[in-house]
Amino acid sequence: MSPPIDFVIRRRTFLAGTAAGALAAGLTTQAQAQSQTAKSPAGPDTTTVRLTVNGTAQEVTVDNRTTLLDVLREDLKLTGTKKGCDHGQCGACTCTVNGSRVNSCLSLAVMHEGDEVETIEGIGTPQAMDPMQTAFVKFDGFQCGYCTPGQIQSARAVIEEIRAGIPSHVTGDLNSEIQITDEEIRERMSGNICRCGAYANILAAITEVAEQGTAGEDI
Ligand code: FES
Ligand code: FES
Repeated sequence: MSPPIDFVIRRRTFLAGTAAGALAAGLTTQAQAQSQTAKSPAGPDTTTVRLTVNGTAQEVTVDNRTTLLDVLREDLKLTGTKKGCDHGQCGACTCTVNGSRVNSCLSLAVMHEGDEVETIEGIGTPQAMDPMQTAFVKFDGFQCGYCTPGQIQSARAVIEEIRAGIPSHVTGDLNSEIQITDEEIRERMSGNICRCGAYANILAAITEVAEQGTAGEDI
């Protein structure tokens, strides 16, 4: 049965009114947003950042959106720190900032005013390698080598974190000294991906350095 005519008219009137109201509301919201955007104070597009990299004072003027990784690679020409995913997923860009490891692709350069940054170039040379570098060579902890700088930076930090008593997801007894086990190392290195699958050899290298007690003593 058809609804009474006055019901149809009221319904159509209601729908038309709603559509018009929504349109008007949308336009109002859009206009307000544009107005607020127009009123927003414009910040500087670039910033000069002073930081110390591998013991050398550096000053760079960068677009505010520039990552620490791009400053290291593009501005300072320290290409040992690698860009793998550029999304915080592979660990190739790992370096240390004030002694802690960071994914430099996820960190804006402007956040590092006054910071101490260390890259793979700062920890050793072919003539005087860091113990972790020596162990990676000894145990063939790499194939193509692209992930290796990040692996080494992370590995050194992992040992320091365990020594400092910082627990991980797999740490059992939080009231006892953390043991450097395969499980601990694997868990803590899980953010460093190796597409060549050199994980077993990387683990062997880190374990040897941890047992020698010589990793990252200058971190
Ligand atoms: S390049 Fe930074 S995590 Fe992959
Ligand atoms: S050695 Fe090739 S990605 Fe790790």
